[in-house]
Amino acid sequence: MSSPAPSTLKEIYPVPAATRENTLCTDKDYETLYQWSVEDPEGFWRRQKDRISWFEDPGLIKNTSFEGDVSIKWFEDGTLNASYNCIDRHLDKHGDEIALIFEGDDPSVDQNVTYRELHGHVCRFANVLKAQGVKKGDRVTIYMPMILDTVYAMLACARIGAVHSVVFGGFSSEAIAGRLDDCQSRFVITTDEGLRGGRKIPLKANVDDAIARLASEFGGSVDKVLVVRHTGGDVAFNADRDVWYHEAAETVDADCPPEPMNAEDPLFILYTSGSTGQPKGVLHTTGGYMVYTSMTHEYIFDYKPGEVYWCTADVGWITGHSYIVYGPLANRATSLVFEGVPSYPDASRFWQIVDKHQVNIFYTAPTAIRALMREGDDLVKKSSRSSLRLLGSVGEPINPEAWNWYHNVVGDARCPIVDTWWQTETGGVLITPLPGATDLKPGSATRPFFGIRPALVDTDGNLLDGATEGNLVMLDSWPGQMRTVYGDHERFIQTYFSTYKGMYFTGDGCRRDEDDYYWITGRVDDVINVSGHRMGTAEIESALVAHDLVSEAAVVGYPHDLKGQGIYAYVTCNAGVEPTDELRKELVKWVRAEIGPIASPDMIQFAPGLPKTRSGKIMRRILRKIAENEFGSLGDTSTLADPSIVDILIENRQNK
Ligand code: WTA
Repeated sequence: MSSPAPSTLKEIYPVPAATRENTLCTDKDYETLYQWSVEDPEGFWRRQKDRISWFEDPGLIKNTSFEGDVSIKWFEDGTLNASYNCIDRHLDKHGDEIALIFEGDDPSVDQNVTYRELHGHVCRFANVLKAQGVKKGDRVTIYMPMILDTVYAMLACARIGAVHSVVFGGFSSEAIAGRLDDCQSRFVITTDEGLRGGRKIPLKANVDDAIARLASEFGGSVDKVLVVRHTGGDVAFNADRDVWYHEAAETVDADCPPEPMNAEDPLFILYTSGSTGQPKGVLHTTGGYMVYTSMTHEYIFDYKPGEVYWCTADVGWITGHSYIVYGPLANRATSLVFEGVPSYPDASRFWQIVDKHQVNIFYTAPTAIRALMREGDDLVKKSSRSSLRLLGSVGEPINPEAWNWYHNVVGDARCPIVDTWWQTETGGVLITPLPGATDLKPGSATRPFFGIRPALVDTDGNLLDGATEGNLVMLDSWPGQMRTVYGDHERFIQTYFSTYKGMYFTGDGCRRDEDDYYWITGRVDDVINVSGHRMGTAEIESALVAHDLVSEAAVVGYPHDLKGQGIYAYVTCNAGVEPTDELRKELVKWVRAEIGPIASPDMIQFAPGLPKTRSGKIMRRILRKIAENEFGSLGDTSTLADPSIVDILIENRQNK
């Protein structure tokens, strides 16, 4: 490899002079604003709310409690519309500026859309939804590829007050069915097919299958499936239920006034994995979310209108919601939407796109950086990348090698890297450098954003001072925080506010150093992070045991060079079943069909039994150590019902 060895990594990277000279927020500004934000949240957010256009200006600012029933309300007497904020308010003076740049899977396909054009597309889409019977408050499921119509669909829902639930296009029909049922969504928007790396993805067929499963497994149904034609591929069509978008769009008005929404009306639901049970519908509301995503987007990326900003996430995840769609468009940004994958037609695609569209700000995930790093520096260096001025990272801790390569090779040692820590639940970034204010330490998400009060606690919930390590909690609310688990407020309280009373528990472990910098160490619960995607081990386990030949399964994460964490499954078969390689393959296929390819186990170890305590609890700590090939530090195994099982598992550990 020609890139410098990690040993050249410095401990601290000061703010470059060029960044400091032209920044929205210097280190002094940060200190002043941060103090204000935590000492007087009411005053601070009263000022910040003005970055958003309100139909009725809120008089009430913050009304939040992490105790008891947990109630989180921001700007609760204000009214606004998210799509108005992302589009209409820019039209007067800036309608001809570029809102979205589309770059197709096929490198010869691209398109620019101005704010005025965006307005036209979204209005039409909104009117089609209305014509199909969608009303304010209805849940609309969006299962689409990374194309502009997906952004139109989301903003169209927001425009008429419908609540979108975007389901990542890589999820299986079984996963779609569960999500349709959970939020009782009666409308689906999809495309004929998706296109990724030259391969077609049968999105409409998956929706058809999902609706069949919805009927057979949950007794549910949907009213309408709106199908956007994308590849032109043949799809089955149910004339009573399915509607071609392009046909419906011909008969509707070109204008659709935005619906005034209360600040606390739901904007969207997004399903995410937790440590127990099925995915939760994380509910975000309108006012606080818009204030928070637009503010974080502007400050963290030091965004100035006119710049080309590219976040490579999929809109099926929170990063796509907050930092491709809502935050950037509220700030009148030019946001790039990429349909394809980093490796197609070859592994220089990202850098070619950067040059082609003169991207200034580039935001991606460590897993992509590691994968591209493997392909060598030449593929990067044949591009200019001179337009880049800032790089971002999100989704998992970034390891020093990847940071170093991102900084030196991709950014030519010129561009600061903002390592942004946050979650689906937080709506926007909570811990992050600000490029003109924060000296960087590779691997650290550095300091809290305005209004954020992180703390570390021990397992008993005692607050820990100074340089130390513990569980990461938040002591106070911020406007972008999730409001509830859709349809299950009790689960919301249980999951986030019961471990440590009066605090929001993130599920992450974290170290704080002597400069008060935060270093996320990873999940401390049964959630694993595979290529930046969050997976609940319980979900994969329940998929495995749903197979006829499996009696029990336990899933843990283990270190994986590319993915960050890999999925390691211990599987106990039913009596009399021969564990074979065939069965192993069959189980991988099974999990892909139950959840999606992102949940495919990397390793399956057949186990005659699992290490359990006498009360029947699986000792995951031991399973993790065995998966990590660390047999020397298994700790106390004497409390196990059958300690001999541990020796058998070690004996059978694959790839020893
Ligand atoms: C992890 C993605 C370290 C963390 C926005 C968190 C990170 C989970 C970082 C949320 C980061 C996210 N450094 N870890 N910069 N960003 N994580 O809900 O474990 O898909 O709890 O949201 O990803 O994943 P989610």
